[in-house]
Amino acid sequence: MSQSLPAASALPVEHQSKTAASVAPRAAAPIVDIAHVGLTLSSRAGAVEILRDVSLSVRPGQSVAIVGPSGSGKTSLLMVLAGLERATTGTVTIAGEDFTRMSEDELAAVRGRDIGIVFQSFHLVPTMTALENIALPLEFAGDKSAFPRARELLTEVGLAARAEHFPAELSGGEQQRIALARALSGRPRLILADEPTGNLDGKTGNQVIELLFDMHRRHRATLVLITHDDALAVQCERIVRMADGRIIADETHGVAEHQATL
Ligand SMILES: Nc1ncnc2c1ncn2[C@@H]1O[C@H](COP(=O)(O)OP(=O)(O)OP(=O)(O)O)[C@@H](O)[C@H]1O
Ligand SMILES: [Mg+2]
Repeated sequence: MSQSLPAASALPVEHQSKTAASVAPRAAAPIVDIAHVGLTLSSRAGAVEILRDVSLSVRPGQSVAIVGPSGSGKTSLLMVLAGLERATTGTVTIAGEDFTRMSEDELAAVRGRDIGIVFQSFHLVPTMTALENIALPLEFAGDKSAFPRARELLTEVGLAARAEHFPAELSGGEQQRIALARALSGRPRLILADEPTGNLDGKTGNQVIELLFDMHRRHRATLVLITHDDALAVQCERIVRMADGRIIADETHGVAEHQATL
């Protein structure tokens, strides 16, 4: 994977020019690259077209807000990017992997390795303590220091004192912060967040956002963030607008994306 290759700037100078010359014509491969994606789900009322001809390419390290009215397909798009929902049509390449060809197990492996997902609902394991919930994915990944690292993250989200609490013994905001710490524990290259502050008060919401952006800046993680909050959307480098299952606008700092990338 490209992650394991040294950055050109980390190489001795004599190698840099050669490497730069050989890779110069191509920009870094996008971490999200989907084209003409359609998603049709069946419901009791018949087939529902949820995503229509959605194409989106995101370069590594970019922050992208996804905005749009309720029901416009934002969560569905995020599910496709996470490999939790399979596109009915089109191509889906995430972190260089062709999601349309992968088995459920292979998709789960990519999620565990490269993607941190923060949902509106928290999906914590109810029988595990806050600390265990955060340590779980690290242990799965074979991290020998899963618990010390989980404790560090717990402190980062301001909940060191709640390590031994079970989810039912935590407030909604506290559960959200635990879920965030768990999503970020493996230092994912791609963070997918679905209205992460939807259930939180202003102060706790700001802490969660600060953590997300901190991860994005410090580790150059790509951030795709669904939000209804315009003030939050403008903190992202790029804003993608959805309506009725389609992308209707795509702007980077006020410039339409196709112009910005020329
Ligand atoms: N499993 C499903 N079967 C049928 N239709 C579905 C299913 N899941 C979602 N939908 C429909 O797909 C559309 C898009 O839903 P989605 O959850 O992606 O919207 P959203 O933009 O995230 O909305 P919100 O801002 O309210 O969270 C909605 O009309 C919804 O009713
Ligand atoms: Mg949604």
